[in-house]
Amino acid sequence: MFRARHLLGIEPLAPAEITTLLDLAETYVDLNRRTVKRSDALAGMTQINLFFENSTRTQSSFELAGKRLGADVMNMAVAQSSVKKGETLIDTALTLNAMHPDLLVVRHNQSGAVKLLAEKVNCAVLNAGDGRHEHPTQALLDALTIRRAKGRLHRLTVAICGDIAHSRVARSNLILLGKMENRLRLIGPATLMPAGVGDLGCEVYEDMREGLKGADVVMMLRLQKERMDGGFIPSEREYYHRWGLDAEKLALAAPDAIVMHPGPMNRGVEIDGTIADDINHSVIRDQVEMGVAVRMAAMDLLARNLRAERGAQFVAEV
Ligand code: NCD
Repeated sequence: MFRARHLLGIEPLAPAEITTLLDLAETYVDLNRRTVKRSDALAGMTQINLFFENSTRTQSSFELAGKRLGADVMNMAVAQSSVKKGETLIDTALTLNAMHPDLLVVRHNQSGAVKLLAEKVNCAVLNAGDGRHEHPTQALLDALTIRRAKGRLHRLTVAICGDIAHSRVARSNLILLGKMENRLRLIGPATLMPAGVGDLGCEVYEDMREGLKGADVVMMLRLQKERMDGGFIPSEREYYHRWGLDAEKLALAAPDAIVMHPGPMNRGVEIDGTIADDINHSVIRDQVEMGVAVRMAAMDLLARNLRAERGAQFVAEV
């Protein structure tokens, strides 16, 4: 059961759709561990990765996912493209649409830009992060990582720490983990909490030690300085002291707590390097591995819906 035409966010997904996607992703985790990593779920299809914002892991993860499913994958280096010459987002979309892609993976610095683009094209669109709005595949890969590490994806205490206000990762995770009925905590300075944080159904802590008590999952976030326009934090040193994850603070969480980070990580700012590398707690490398599998599952499911839709259109036409 997965009905969506596009994957623009976690918001419209039903819990059963999330579970369907994660279950399929499990099969791709197995495939990706084999020497021959090949499926033909997207054979003959064209995937275009359109990244208006810099990305290393997300773009390479989508590229690898598409290739392992047999798609023809093209990366558009938008930063050096016609966008620099003043072309609008919609013109870029319509130009690409004329090349008949089947899957379009888009990252953009404006919230809502990916949805706008999805309304103009005939293919399936996957949101690889739009502004501070949503980053659905990140939340799904985090969910798969948590489910594998904890054996379940419900009734867990999850603490998300750091720059919540500027984070699409936090937003998508809050929506997903909320749908799956977990206890959610947000930890960070008041200046980095989103407006209306009280309505999100989370517990909010400025004191990290309080917020970490008994947590099963500790998710650390980078300070998204590119989205800050002033003095949100005192200094990195002071920030690390109060909200950086170190062994002493982690000891307050559940003994078997897992530590997560979407990357890129700033060691010594939001997380101590030793914690990030501690194989007893850190699942940061697993997150990267799950990322490829989750993106394969998402593209596979969207491609099935696309085929069904086009098949129905074809029948209607003849
Ligand atoms: C995140 C993003 O781009 O939103 N990174 C990622 O996709 N792995 C988080 C970040 O940039 O800090």
